[in-house]
Amino acid sequence: MTPRIQAFFDDASSTFSYVVYEQAGGPCAIIDSVLDFDPKSGRTGTTHAERIKTFVQSHDLQVQWLLETHAHADHLSAAPWLRSQLGGRIAIGEGIRQVQKVFKAVFNLEPNFRLDGSQFDHLFQDGEPFQIGNIPARALHVPGHTPADMAFVIGENTLFVGDTLFMPDVGTARCDFPGGDAHQLYRSISRLLAFPPDTQLYLCHDYPPEGRREQPDTTVAEQRRSNIHVRDGISENEFVEMRTTRDATLPMPMLLMPAVQVNIRAGELPPAEDNGVRYLKIPLNSL
Ligand SMILES: [Fe+2]
Repeated sequence: MTPRIQAFFDDASSTFSYVVYEQAGGPCAIIDSVLDFDPKSGRTGTTHAERIKTFVQSHDLQVQWLLETHAHADHLSAAPWLRSQLGGRIAIGEGIRQVQKVFKAVFNLEPNFRLDGSQFDHLFQDGEPFQIGNIPARALHVPGHTPADMAFVIGENTLFVGDTLFMPDVGTARCDFPGGDAHQLYRSISRLLAFPPDTQLYLCHDYPPEGRREQPDTTVAEQRRSNIHVRDGISENEFVEMRTTRDATLPMPMLLMPAVQVNIRAGELPPAEDNGVRYLKIPLNSL
């Protein structure tokens, strides 16, 4: 069964969000939604998420899942807002516990911040099957970019790869965040590229070079033929050498601090202080 897929591109973070469904009037999953955030004013917004809400309502879809491929470092998740508007269960990989542990220490979070992932409605194990209505799906643990990264096989021929592969002319996700590991990413990508050549791969981001428009999908065959970082013939050691050298030159993402603090809470904002205002922290000289 081939699912229907609607992509929504967020220009500010170059993120693709997706609605995946069998047919109008049926169940759906929303993957990697984005909450608008202006770091200059500290204001959040729902313009991007409202586009998704409008699509879901106009196709009379029932939200079954709000899937997160990982705790994103470049945007805040809109999953709790969408759940409040449309229902559904927020799910991520069980590796989120490791990410929570690292960042509870980095941000010196409140003592009762839980490290068991229970802020999410569901934690996926590697290989765990699930359903979106009648569409069979499976969660795959694909660590490397972060310890919690998941990919989702949905239907027979469609793979949502999260932050592992980008378009062939862009390459692969960075591995220098806490808990990242280029060796692991190479092995995770090898697992994805072992799917049949015509498997459709849906990306979490695109950063198109001059002259190309952003594109949400590619195939296993295209990646194996021409991915600048991991096409066929590039060894694990060559990849790790390239990735490590390149990561050392990359600045931290603009929204890393706000995004991680919110996303390890399943997208909820931090608790309000005694004046009723919620605050984000910036640890100095820490990361
Ligand atoms: Fe990411």
